[in-house]
Amino acid sequence: AAPALIDPFGRRIDYLRVSVTDRCDLRCTYCLPKGFKGFEEPANWLSHAEMSRLVGLFVQLGVAKLRLTGGEPLLRRGISELAGRLAALPGLRDLSLSSNGTQLARHAAELKAAGVQRLNISLDSLDEGCFARITGRDCLADVLDGLMAAKQAGFAPIKLNMVVQAGVNEVEVERMVAFAIEHGFVLRLIEPMPIGDSGRATAGIDLSQLGQRLAQRFALIPELKGQGAGPARYWTAPQGGMSLGVITPMSQHFCAACNRVRLSVDGTLYLCLGQEDKVALGAQLRAGATDAELRAAIVAAIAIKPERHEFNTAPSKIIRFMSQTGG
Ligand code: GTP
Ligand code: 5AD
Ligand code: SF4
Repeated sequence: AAPALIDPFGRRIDYLRVSVTDRCDLRCTYCLPKGFKGFEEPANWLSHAEMSRLVGLFVQLGVAKLRLTGGEPLLRRGISELAGRLAALPGLRDLSLSSNGTQLARHAAELKAAGVQRLNISLDSLDEGCFARITGRDCLADVLDGLMAAKQAGFAPIKLNMVVQAGVNEVEVERMVAFAIEHGFVLRLIEPMPIGDSGRATAGIDLSQLGQRLAQRFALIPELKGQGAGPARYWTAPQGGMSLGVITPMSQHFCAACNRVRLSVDGTLYLCLGQEDKVALGAQLRAGATDAELRAAIVAAIAIKPERHEFNTAPSKIIRFMSQTGG
């Protein structure tokens, strides 16, 4: 039988998310504090070859879906080349990328050519001022250019990630739904999670309620099967094209269906977004571990995957920043 990574709670882990850099050209208020200096040392960044080797071992163990994240992944030099290399791994079925979109206009066509199939783009506001207040940079126009370039390049679906903050961009949700309908994008509304000091200071709202209301208002119907490989629940336009999703880590737990683990730029494997459990695969690789030893380390790591995050009960516990594991 094909090998599979099954955790102690019976969950099949077939989705790996790789943060190819922890740096970012934005400072979204819920993610990175202004003046943040705690980035990983370049000496510890895994090279393309080291990343491909590690990812290849995960794929041998049954991982079929891979998402490149950051920080901002398009800041990693040679990102399309890296994507192409990973896309060519036999056994990998789904290669996707999460980006803030600021550099996407330059990269969209070559990412598509390299074999990236799906794009998720952060977009919290369609108002220039509000966008600048949230991200720390006045560059909404660049992100919109990036989105249009991605559409042009033939990416489908393109998902918009909107982290909804009470009293900040909450008023824009309807406008965002209309924008997604106009362009055939998938819009996902996300509850902010208390990750790092920044995430902890962000006020969210209960999106399971809001999702229902918006679905009614725009005559969307619940999608039973859902799409993508993540925790979102969806409604869809009856004529197709557009979907609305909600990601509700705070109001509705989805950890029972978790299928993923995360690798940071130095090759640390994080076993849960909301827990500190981790294994230093990159250090083992650099210490000369063989493929067989690294595969054994991955299997052993999955055996300590925690059952769930505890954002609601222990919100002050998480010390790392979101840009380290890319959400
Ligand atoms: P696809 O469904 O494959 O398109 O991806 P995704 O929705 O998992 O990816 P994306 O990077 O766009 O993440 C969207 C939001 O979901 C981000 O805010 C993530 O932090 C959040 N998210 C993704 N996976 C998890 C998870 O395992 N636990 C929690 N609590 N949040 C997650
Ligand atoms: N809570 C929820 N989502 C977050 N993201 C970044 N920080 C947080 C947080 N504290 C989202 C970004 C991006 C996705 C990968 O993660 O908006 O779209
Ligand atoms: Fe950068 Fe994404 Fe964090 Fe915003 S949420 S600062 S775009 S890594």
